[in-house]
Amino acid sequence: MAEVDNIVVEGVDAMTLNDNEKDDDFVDPWNVTSQNDTGVDYDKLIKRFGSSKIDNELIERFEKITGKKAHYLIRRGIFFSHRDMHTILTLKEQGKPFYLYTGRGPSSDSLHLGHLIPFIMTKWLQETFDVPLVIQLTDDEKVLWKDLKIEAAMKLARENAKDIIAMGFDLNKTFIFSNLDFMGKCPEMYQNIIRIQKCVTFNQVKGIFGFGDSDVIGKIGFPAAQAAPAFSTTFPFIFGNKKVHVLIPCAIDQDPYFRMTRDCAPRLGFPKPALIHSAFFPALQGAKSKMSASDQNSAIFLTDTPKQIKNKINKYAFSGGKATVEEHRSQGGNPDVDVAYQLLKFFLEDDEKLEQTRLAYSKGEMLTGEIKKLAIEILTPVVEEHQKRRKEVTDDVLDQFMVLRKLQFAA
Ligand code: TYM
Repeated sequence: MAEVDNIVVEGVDAMTLNDNEKDDDFVDPWNVTSQNDTGVDYDKLIKRFGSSKIDNELIERFEKITGKKAHYLIRRGIFFSHRDMHTILTLKEQGKPFYLYTGRGPSSDSLHLGHLIPFIMTKWLQETFDVPLVIQLTDDEKVLWKDLKIEAAMKLARENAKDIIAMGFDLNKTFIFSNLDFMGKCPEMYQNIIRIQKCVTFNQVKGIFGFGDSDVIGKIGFPAAQAAPAFSTTFPFIFGNKKVHVLIPCAIDQDPYFRMTRDCAPRLGFPKPALIHSAFFPALQGAKSKMSASDQNSAIFLTDTPKQIKNKINKYAFSGGKATVEEHRSQGGNPDVDVAYQLLKFFLEDDEKLEQTRLAYSKGEMLTGEIKKLAIEILTPVVEEHQKRRKEVTDDVLDQFMVLRKLQFAA
């Protein structure tokens, strides 16, 4: 732990976070880059961020308490890190309540496949634990960080919310809100933001997020807006004034926000939020960067047509194959850097087929063109089925998810 302004920040402060620069990997909420073909070194990142590895003991306890096999994204180590997951399991064991919180920063009119990963996990956790869920759309964040007007960001938030609803979240247990809209309806959110802002100095946010003197002041205050939903009194219509535990599924780029939140929590009388972190779905160009909405060619979007998916994978997906068929047949390919294989690792649920593919590709029995073809076959229906479900999400359905209301909550 490091100390900034006498406050203990878990894991790292800026000196070490921005030591990012001295490392081969750079991970913050806005940028993810690695110098290595295999991508971010997650074991190193766990150490640097001060989180814990999801180990076999946690998985076994999880399976014992839920009576369910762990999700394949956990079993495959894609969700690889956590904070206080054992506390959440103990709450479950004791029949005590908690809720889930996740979000999306609406920067494009459609989500890409990488964004689905935390939402797939969130949906599964909601079903497994039968708990309520709040989903924050940080349209304010995107206005501050991107060349976006308020009206445009709010529109994107609604479009993105439709993608999220199309994943099948339960209306009775899910509340979706956009910051730019919700804060005018619920003073408790703004009150919690001010409480959080009073806990954190400029020096600390500079440390955690790397803000500089020329950053607009909105950015400096914003982390409190992403922290506030981790405090249950932000939603009095769901939790009254009870201080309920929360579990936040996200990719590990969002962790800096929640390190700050965990630091404030005890000082404001709230339990520290628990987290479960995923690795990054790689850019098509390779694991040196993450799939990102800001780079059209790096990503497969949920609005892409089958032809676009096929072209993007064939044209851009970085290959771990050898230069010639002969070399590939004799030496085999490298699945660890092969984007088509990585796409399969995230979306091909059948463990046996995935392992067969890995072996065949590594031995050179399967060629680059063949593994790309398989990735196209697996991903195209994922996107097509999503598009079908999304057509059914009308403005009326969306409005129902965004109404301030009670949610179903055991205990
Ligand atoms: P955003 O919109 O950048 O991303 C939404 C969620 O997707 C994760 N993510 C990825 N996961 C795997 N592979 C990728 N290539 C990839 N790219 C993005 C993000 O970690 C995130 O979980 N500020 C946030 C929105 C937010 C939020 C939250 C996220 C508000 N409250 C609470 C998580 C939890 C953002 O801009 O996310």
